[in-house]
Amino acid sequence: MQPKILLTGRSGQIGYELFQTLSPLADVLAVDVQDVDLSNVPILKRFVRNLDRIDLIVHPAAFTAVDLAEEQPDLARAVNVDASRVLAEEAAQRNIPMIHYSTDYVFDGNRSLDSLYTEKDATAPLSVYGLTKRDGETAVREICKKHCILRLCWVYGLRGNNFFQTMLRLYQQGKTPQVVDDQIGAPTWSRIIAIVTAILAGKILDSPSSDFPWGTYHVSAGGVASWHEFATAIFVAMNHQTGQKIELPKPISSEEYSAKDLVKDSVKNSVKATRPKNSRLDNNLLAVTFGLKLPDWQTQLAWCLDAIKIK
Ligand SMILES: NC(=O)c1ccc[n+]([C@@H]2O[C@H](COP(=O)([O-])OP(=O)(O)OC[C@H]3O[C@@H](n4cnc5c(N)ncnc54)[C@H](OP(=O)(O)O)[C@@H]3O)[C@@H](O)[C@H]2O)c1
Repeated sequence: MQPKILLTGRSGQIGYELFQTLSPLADVLAVDVQDVDLSNVPILKRFVRNLDRIDLIVHPAAFTAVDLAEEQPDLARAVNVDASRVLAEEAAQRNIPMIHYSTDYVFDGNRSLDSLYTEKDATAPLSVYGLTKRDGETAVREICKKHCILRLCWVYGLRGNNFFQTMLRLYQQGKTPQVVDDQIGAPTWSRIIAIVTAILAGKILDSPSSDFPWGTYHVSAGGVASWHEFATAIFVAMNHQTGQKIELPKPISSEEYSAKDLVKDSVKNSVKATRPKNSRLDNNLLAVTFGLKLPDWQTQLAWCLDAIKIK
């Protein structure tokens, strides 16, 4: 019998890619807020209890608006903590595994810029978003023994409101942005995350009762970049692709950039969340455990740009 996966956040940037990579493996019941509002615990409970059979829960849905979370902490907590807890409880009750997603924002990012965060490092979130994601992953870890928590950083892709899309829009408008150069991480294409997830899901579904190495894994591109370096790489590639000569992004410090926007062009919100300066996640455990070594961010960017073929 074909296995069945419950996938949340179907229209999100990672959820969309997950639907493509998981569909060859299983019947994917992909839901979004129109199907079930994760912020409503009774409705979510009723929804999952009434599902016939599920073999795996894959849960990328989250309240991801980092600044808005400072103003709506209760909603952020409902989606990122309470809904994750309900799904973990359901997985535990059915004795099925759960793949959950978390973030570099669980760390404060204050360590020296030449070091990376491992899965063993203590968390210390700076923002409501980071705090709720930390509490969400803790709930999943404690409730559902068969869990894979994948911590991601600096995700971009072909859909959604992400930094990469903002840069493409500015490029197409011929605008040169100022971009912060003192926050570092590893830009990771959402499709690569979806492929990694599908590989893990395939192993899990093949032998769900085996000694799968359940746990927390960092899934981020190889290498390191500042937002400014990432933006510059996008503009250079676009200039090369289009033959235009749009001026390259200008560096700016976070302090200089008083409103803490990554990009001067962004809409200003009244409250700004503090972002980690060092978002580098050590992905060695993923490589050692599963033989999955992610390509560096430059290669992923080239693949992503190739996939969209903007003229
Ligand atoms: N993007 C990053 O840079 C990044 C970095 C680290 C970790 N992560 C983690 O990766 C996961 C996926 O992120 P993403 O970038 O794909 O986020 P995204 O594009 O914002 O997608 C989130 C999804 O969750 C859904 N959702 C939000 N509130 C909901 C609710 N109340 N009920 C039902 N669905 C709801 C959204 O639906 P609507 O669109 O309809 O609201 C959307 O489909 C999240 O756990 C996030 O914390 C992301």
